[in-house]
Amino acid sequence: MRIREGMRMAAGIDDIAIYIPKLFVDASDFAVARGVDPAKMQSGLGVSQMAIVDTNQDPACLAANACLKVMQKNKLSPDDIGRLYVATESSLDESKAMNSYVIGMLEQVYGEGSFEHCGGIECKFACVSGSYALYDNANWIRAGEAENKSALVVVSDIAKYDLGSSGELTQGAGAVAMLLNDKPRLLAFDPKVTSTSIKNEYDFYRPFGKETPIVHGQYSNLLYLIQVRNALEAYKRKALSTGLIKLKEGETVLDHIDYLNMHLPYSNMGKKALAYLVRHEWRTTPRWKKLIEKIGIEEPRPKDPRGTIESILADADYMTKDHEFTKLFTKTKEFQDVYETKLASSLIASKMIGNLYTASLYLGFRSSLEFEFQKGVELEGKRIGFGSYGSGSSAMVFSGVIQPSYKQVVKDMNLEAELGKRKKLSLEEYEEIHENKRSVDDSILEPKKEFVLVSVATAPESSGERKYVFSE
Ligand code: CAA
Repeated sequence: MRIREGMRMAAGIDDIAIYIPKLFVDASDFAVARGVDPAKMQSGLGVSQMAIVDTNQDPACLAANACLKVMQKNKLSPDDIGRLYVATESSLDESKAMNSYVIGMLEQVYGEGSFEHCGGIECKFACVSGSYALYDNANWIRAGEAENKSALVVVSDIAKYDLGSSGELTQGAGAVAMLLNDKPRLLAFDPKVTSTSIKNEYDFYRPFGKETPIVHGQYSNLLYLIQVRNALEAYKRKALSTGLIKLKEGETVLDHIDYLNMHLPYSNMGKKALAYLVRHEWRTTPRWKKLIEKIGIEEPRPKDPRGTIESILADADYMTKDHEFTKLFTKTKEFQDVYETKLASSLIASKMIGNLYTASLYLGFRSSLEFEFQKGVELEGKRIGFGSYGSGSSAMVFSGVIQPSYKQVVKDMNLEAELGKRKKLSLEEYEEIHENKRSVDDSILEPKKEFVLVSVATAPESSGERKYVFSE
C-alpha cells in the first residue's frame, strides 16, 4: 500500500535537557593569563565563560546525565525509549559505542537489562553528526517503525584544544539530550527539505590516539561558511520545489525562516555565519542596491572568485576589504533587525558555556526557545532553521515548526537554575585538569545526584574498561 502524502507521520523534538559541568574558566582571567586582550574573547569571539569537565567526568557520563534528566522530567521508563543514539567527536573507544556506556549507566538507575530492547549506535562526523542522528531517528519515526516509542538522541562533547593554541580560547563541555517522537510538543521537522553538503577536507581533525585536534582555524571558519551556504542552496531548491516555501517578488528564503540556529564553536561564529548567508541571499534582491548605497562601499570581490579557500585567504587585499565591508554591513539597521529577531537569543547560552561541538547547535536552539519566550514572543507556528556544520567536512540545513504545545515545555526552561552554582577554576587548577595531572578520584567537586567516572582499567586484559557510579 502506498502511503498517501497527507498521512505522513510527523516527527520532531518533544523535549530537550542539558547537562553542563559545574567547573568553568572565566574568559577575562584566561585571556590575561594567555597574554591576549580580554576584549578579543569577550567581544571578538563572544566567549565569557567556558565549562570544563572535572577529573571524574567524561563525554559518556555527561551524555548519561542529560538522558537521565530528560527521562526523569518526563517520567519515562526504559520501555518508552526505542532507540538511544549518541553523537560525539570525543569518542572513548574505536569499537565500543558510547551509547553502550550510557545504557550501562542508565541501567544502574532503571535496573539491569531494562534497556535491552533499545537499539542505537554512536555517530561520528565532527560537530554535524548530531544532526545526522536526529534526521535518521526522525525517519525511523516517520517510517512507522517506532511502535509508539520515542528515540533519545544525545549529543555530548568535550571541546579541548592544546594549551596556548588559538583554539584554547574556544573550549567548553556538555551534553544535550533530545527526546524525539511522532507528537512532538516543541518542534516538528519540515519533511523533505533536509539538505547536506560534503567534501573531503582537513580543516579540523583529531587523529587516532591524539587528545586534541589539529586545527587550521581561519580555513575552518571559511569552510564552515561555504559548506553551510551550499547546504542552504540545496535546502532552498527543496523548499521551493516541495511548496514548503513560496517566494514573492524580492523575497528570499531567509524571509520565511523566523529563527536561525547555527553551529556555535564560539558565539560570534553564529553572527559571522548569519552575515554571510544574508549577504548571499540579499545580493540578488532590490534591497541590496539600497543597502550598498547606505554602506558606502562596493562589496569586494576576490582576485580569483573561483579560487580555492587557500587562495582566497592568501588574497590579503580582499580579506582586509571584505572584513571592513562585513563590519559595515553588520552595523546596518537592516542586518541588526535580522540578527536581533532571528539569532541573538540562541547565542546567550554559548557565551556562558563555550563550545560543545556536536551539542553547540542544540544548546543554541534551547537558548533561543528560553530567551525568546522570556521576551514574550509568541512562538507557535514559527519556522526554525538549523545550520549544522562538522569539520572534515559536512554541513546540514533543515527546518521545523514550533508546535502549539511548546509552552508546556518552554515555560520551565531556566538556564541559570540548571547551571546552578558553578565553581570558577584558577588557571593552575585548569591546567592540571587539562594536562591530566589529577587522577579520576581527585575531583575538584563532590558529585551530587549524577553519574561519575570512578575508574579506567589499565591491566592488559581489561585496558580501557570504564566504571561509573550514580552518586547519591
Ligand atoms: N578586541 C576585540 N576584538 C578582537 C581583538 C581585540 N583586541 N582581537 C581580535 N579580535 C576579533 C577579531 O577581529 C576577530 O573578529 P572577526 O572575526 O569579527 O574579525 C575575532 O576577534 C577573532 O580573532 P582572530 O580571527 O584573529 O582569532 P584567531 O585567528 O586567533 O582565532 C579561531 C580564531 C580561528 C576561531 C580560533 O579560535 C580557532 O582556531 N578555533 C578552533 C577552530 C574553530 O572553532 N573553527 C570554527 C569553524 S570549524 C567548526 O566550527 C568546528 C568546531 O566546532 C571546531
